[in-house]
Amino acid sequence: MKNILITGGAGFIGSHTAVELIGAGYGVIVVDNLSNADTTCLEGVEKITGQKIPFYKADCCEKEDMRKIFGENRIDGAIHFAAFKAVGESVDRPLMYYRNNLLSFITLLEVMIENGGGGVVFSSSATVYGQPDKLPATEDTPRKPATSPYGNTKQICEDILLDAVKAHPSLKGMILRYFNPIGAHPSALIGELPRGVPNNLVPFITQTAAGLREELRIFGNDYPTPDGTALRDYIDIVDLATAHVSAFERMTGHNPDGSCEVFNIGTGRPLSVMELVERFMAINRVPLKYKIAGRREGDVEAVWADTSLANRVLGWKACRSVEETLANAWAWEKKLRRLK
Ligand code: NAD
Ligand code: WQD
Repeated sequence: MKNILITGGAGFIGSHTAVELIGAGYGVIVVDNLSNADTTCLEGVEKITGQKIPFYKADCCEKEDMRKIFGENRIDGAIHFAAFKAVGESVDRPLMYYRNNLLSFITLLEVMIENGGGGVVFSSSATVYGQPDKLPATEDTPRKPATSPYGNTKQICEDILLDAVKAHPSLKGMILRYFNPIGAHPSALIGELPRGVPNNLVPFITQTAAGLREELRIFGNDYPTPDGTALRDYIDIVDLATAHVSAFERMTGHNPDGSCEVFNIGTGRPLSVMELVERFMAINRVPLKYKIAGRREGDVEAVWADTSLANRVLGWKACRSVEETLANAWAWEKKLRRLK
């Protein structure tokens, strides 16, 4: 059995990925410092899979802690989810973001190399494309200068991995650029647990529907889009998680030259904010109070993925409908808030 270290594995994407990796026959080891999570989702992963997950509460920036984890386990590869991810906060606290997001990744790579290398997947983001000149965005769409320190850490970490793989033959790399991950596991045992007021659209919608927030503000209805609201590529969290299984199969099996490949992970279908809100209300038969507000600073008007490379090379495709995803997101929120 191949063992994968999941950094940030107590978080939203990491926990769902742990479930899919275990389902595909991988062993997983989780390291997370719980800076943006508690153990709820890890417990959920154990319930779903019926397996005890080896868990280290540690900071990936701490080299000795990472050495200990590698010393105690046979690790064949890693997925690096551990990072701070709040765009606005990164503008206010840039050094904290650069320190955490860069140092955690550099430390992981150094310790992997010390331990004989292996495959590493880096969690990047569609944010690297900014507002693309041409849509959908392909992997060759030029990256735009980052508009936040968070976005910059994603670009720098991509470059770090590309350079490290070139210089260290024992290391294989893959960059996955996620579009907008949403939803929750259909069991409602794991999902997104934002701290404080959510920045992202779907957690804000579910919290509003649950009565925790008074109303949703739709940021801008004057974009040059069919209904005036911004377009995004919302991808189901389980679909996103399964992409990591395909990524490991590709990295450890068939990538002929061992180069660091880059893939867009999205659905390929744009959806507007208004459409998403309407579908949420329709599928869940729940009212949602909302109003139109001004544009949010830093937002792009439209971005969605060309996923043909991932479909062809990874043999992976997003298959869940947005209705199914929004039903799962609502089921998770209701369970958290003990609502009927
Ligand atoms: P998350 O905050 O739920 O998970 C990240 C986890 O990493 C958290 O549990 C946190 O406690 C942990 N962590 C942070 N710094 C750490 C450190 N130094 N050492 C150990 N653990 C640490 O976020 P997520 O949504 O699951 O995102 C996972 C990754 O995917 C991040 O790198 C994020 O930037 C990237 N990403 C997320 C999205 C999104 O919309 N959720 C989109 C694109 C890319
Ligand atoms: C989606 C749409 C908002 C909240 C961010 C990061 C990106 C990536 C994913 C990590 C936008 C609108 C939102 C609200 C709204 N994360 N909206 N009212 O901005 O596409 O991407 O998360 O890498 O880097 O920037 O996602 O969910 O915040 O917004 O109208 O209360 O919903 O304006 O059009 P975004 P989001």
